[in-house]
Amino acid sequence: MKENEVTAGCREPRKLQVELGANSYPIWIGEGLLDQLAEKLPALDPGSKIFILTDHHVDAFYGDWTERVLREAGYLTKRLSLEPGEATKGFSSLPPIYEALLEFQCTRKDLLITLGGGVIGDLGGFAAATYLRGIPFMQIPTSLLAQVDSSVGGKVAVDLPQGKNLVGCFYQPKAVLIDPLLLQTLPDRYFRDGMAEVIKYGCIRDAAFLERLAGLADRMAAMSLMTEIIETCCNHKKSYVEADERDLGERMHLNFGHTLGHAIEASEHYEGHSHGEAVAMGMAAITRISENMGLTHPGTSEILEQILRQFGLPYRVPASQKPAILAAISSDKKNLGRTLKVVLLKTLGESYLWDTTAAFFEAEEGWQN
Ligand SMILES: NC(=O)c1ccc[n+]([C@@H]2O[C@H](COP(=O)([O-])OP(=O)(O)OC[C@H]3O[C@@H](n4cnc5c(N)ncnc54)[C@H](O)[C@@H]3O)[C@@H](O)[C@H]2O)c1
Repeated sequence: MKENEVTAGCREPRKLQVELGANSYPIWIGEGLLDQLAEKLPALDPGSKIFILTDHHVDAFYGDWTERVLREAGYLTKRLSLEPGEATKGFSSLPPIYEALLEFQCTRKDLLITLGGGVIGDLGGFAAATYLRGIPFMQIPTSLLAQVDSSVGGKVAVDLPQGKNLVGCFYQPKAVLIDPLLLQTLPDRYFRDGMAEVIKYGCIRDAAFLERLAGLADRMAAMSLMTEIIETCCNHKKSYVEADERDLGERMHLNFGHTLGHAIEASEHYEGHSHGEAVAMGMAAITRISENMGLTHPGTSEILEQILRQFGLPYRVPASQKPAILAAISSDKKNLGRTLKVVLLKTLGESYLWDTTAAFFEAEEGWQN
C-alpha cells in the first residue's frame, strides 16, 4: 500500500517512526492495541514502575483496563485521575502530580503514561519534562484530536490565566500508542473537534485524502476507516515535525485556520465554540478572504465549506462577533509588534505562508451578516 492511501478493511497494526535523532520514537496505530500495551513496552526499556495520568471520563472507561494490562505483565503501577477539561491544564494541577510521582518513588528510569485527550497529554508531558529534570513518558491518546495531532510532536505545556499554552517546552515522548477503538466512547462534540484537524491536513497538503473524506457520509463511515485516517494524519504531522521540530518554519502550516480560531475562542473566553469548531470557522473564513483577494484558487472555499458541513462543523463567523475577534487577534501576544504570518491555501491540498497584518481579517468576505 502506498503511503497515505486510505483503504477499507485493513486491520494490521501500523508503525510510523518519528525521526528526530536521539529523540526518535515510534507511533503504533491499530485497533485493539491497548491490550498489547505490555508487549510494546520492552522496546522502550522502561523501569519497573509505570505512572498513569488520566482524567475522570477516560478513567471510567479505560483506567482499570490499562492498569490491569500492565500489572498482569509484572509492572508496578499507580494511577492519578484528574478533573476533565481545559481548566485542569493549569499550574495548580502540577503539585498533586509531582507529589503522587514522589510518593510512588518514581525515578528517571520509570515511565509516565498519559492516557487521555490533549489536556492530559500536554499536562502529563510537561510534568514528565520537569519532574526530576525529565522522566520518560509515553502518550496513549484517547480523543481524535490527540490521536491525529497533539500526541505527536513533543509540544507540552500548561495554560496561564492570560492565555493557553504560555508555559511549556518541547519534550518528545518515548512512544505513542494509538488505539482507534477507544474513540467509540468519545462524545460527538469532541469527535467533530478532531475531524476539523483531520480536514486541516487534507487542506494543507493532501487533496486526495480530502477527496476521500468528502466521500464519508458521517461518523460511522469515518470510524470504519479510522486506522487509515489516523495513520495519514500522523504521517503528515511526523513530516512537519521532522522538518521543523521547534516550529520556526514548515511546522507553521499546521496553524491553518488557527489565527482566527484562537481569536474566536479567546473572544468567547473559551466558553463558546470548541477548539475544533473555532478552527473550522477560521479555515473557512480565511479561505473566503484569500480567494476573494485572488490568493487562492477560485471555488476552494465552497468545497471546504461543504466538507466542514458534512461533519457537522460550523463555517460562518457571525459579523456581530467581528469587533471582539479582531481585538483578540490584535492583542494576541504572538501577533504583537510584527507582521502576522498566516497560512493560506493555494488550492485544496496546498498551503503557503503569507505575511500580512491583522487588517487582513477585516475583509467583508470573512464574516456572515
Ligand atoms: N501539544 C500539541 O501539539 C497540541 C495540539 C493541539 C491541541 N493541543 C491541546 O489539546 C487540548 C485539547 O485536546 P482534546 O480536544 O483532546 O481535549 P480533552 O483532553 O479535554 O478531551 C476532550 C474531552 O473528551 C474526553 N475524552 C477523551 N477521550 C475520550 C474517550 N476515548 N472516551 C470518552 N471521553 C473521552 C475527555 O475527558 C474530555 O472531556 C488543548 O489543551 C490544546 O491546547 C495540543
